[in-house]
Amino acid sequence: MKITVIGVGYVGLTTGVCLAEIGNDVLCVDKDKIKIVDLKQGKIPIYEPGLADKTLKNYQNKKLNFSTSIKEGIDFADVIFIAVGTPAKYTGEADLTSVETVVVDIAKKMTTYKIIVSKSTVPVETGKKIQETIRLYNRTTDFDIVSNPEFLREGSAVSDFLNPYRIVLGVNSQKAKDAMLEVYQNIDAPKIITDIESAELIKHASNSFLALKISYANALSRICEKVGADIEFVTQGMGYDSRIGKDFLNAGVGFGGSCFPKDLAAFIDISNNCGYNFQLLKEVQKINDDQKQSFIDKIKEIVWNLKGKKFAVLGLSFKPNTDDMREAPSLDIIDSLLKEGAIVTAFDPVATKNAKAILGDAITYAETIVDATKGADAVIILTEWADFKNIDVANLKLKTPIIIDGRNIFDPLEMKKKGYIYKGIGR
Ligand code: UGA
Repeated sequence: MKITVIGVGYVGLTTGVCLAEIGNDVLCVDKDKIKIVDLKQGKIPIYEPGLADKTLKNYQNKKLNFSTSIKEGIDFADVIFIAVGTPAKYTGEADLTSVETVVVDIAKKMTTYKIIVSKSTVPVETGKKIQETIRLYNRTTDFDIVSNPEFLREGSAVSDFLNPYRIVLGVNSQKAKDAMLEVYQNIDAPKIITDIESAELIKHASNSFLALKISYANALSRICEKVGADIEFVTQGMGYDSRIGKDFLNAGVGFGGSCFPKDLAAFIDISNNCGYNFQLLKEVQKINDDQKQSFIDKIKEIVWNLKGKKFAVLGLSFKPNTDDMREAPSLDIIDSLLKEGAIVTAFDPVATKNAKAILGDAITYAETIVDATKGADAVIILTEWADFKNIDVANLKLKTPIIIDGRNIFDPLEMKKKGYIYKGIGR
């Protein structure tokens, strides 16, 4: 099937490359000329395991191409995916300006039947808006709208795309349904066919529910600390019940990233606009914010005053296997440490460049784990990178043997045996 993907950000690029990987002929369009030149050389603007190789391979095999011309994209295919950014406004509401610009462009330039697929995370009823907008600018050409939300996790986006739990297709015609099933024919996963509004809601409901699970585990971790239980045992015991499930019950310093915080705020806003006060989700947000403050309190409990103390922060990205710093809990935690006069040296395997762009010279960046810990009063773990789990703590050059672990990567008893004062979350 011939497909055009408009918007070559994280979602658009992964979608375009993977659609080519499963046998489609794909043209990815973006107005950023430098990005398009780079992509043709296999240089991708984000750190995403497996994506660069697949980009180059499919480009060289001529299954994938790149262009800066939206007109070329519209003429190339009948199926057009919209994957442009939908950042949050200060109110929490998603900014759909880029979606509107692309839709108006498509409406003005299309001359034959098109299926316009919404891939960006958009508020429910955006499909209706897209439909109305196209009709406003083009009264003659036939078209269909599809909602096909993405469920890609950063760091495992390629494998999530190729081996999904499900593919959701919100359609309003048989023609669009048949075309979308053909697009995804080489992916073996349940295909959920719904109306457009339900498909849009599935995305909001899924991300908010996952965020809720994390906040539930984080709230439980606070009780565990009070009564002397271990959150790792508690969530393990819960997770064996398949109605609950093991995933997304890891307590820590809170969730971050470009999706959960933004999508939660947007869903609260959407619900509000529908006349429903989604108090439950507001509490999910509050627990997440409190979790970061409680981590700072924990640090203070152990090291006492923060002023002049040196901390080795291990992990800056919002989760492992990504260089993404958006809404990373490390930013809030480092900010609190600095405000209290602490001195921070950080190490992250891939996110240092992006962290520097935000934090500048407010902290020092180490090249290795051991360098970060030299002379520090304590180690603070904020991202559970696999490398950190394999640290030989005997090699650390700390001033005082303190590890405060915001991701529970170590066994408390082991650490005690090795002579460390060790504090995790909820244990
Ligand atoms: C999330 C969803 O998992 C994807 O399904 C969805 O497609 C994506 O948002 C999106 O809307 O585009 P992502 O933000 O990449 O993906 O990352 P997650 O792996 O979901 O992690 C989000 C945050 O939750 C991270 O900060 C992570 O550290 C935290 N987390 C996750 C926990 O604190 N505990 C857990 O048990 C799991």
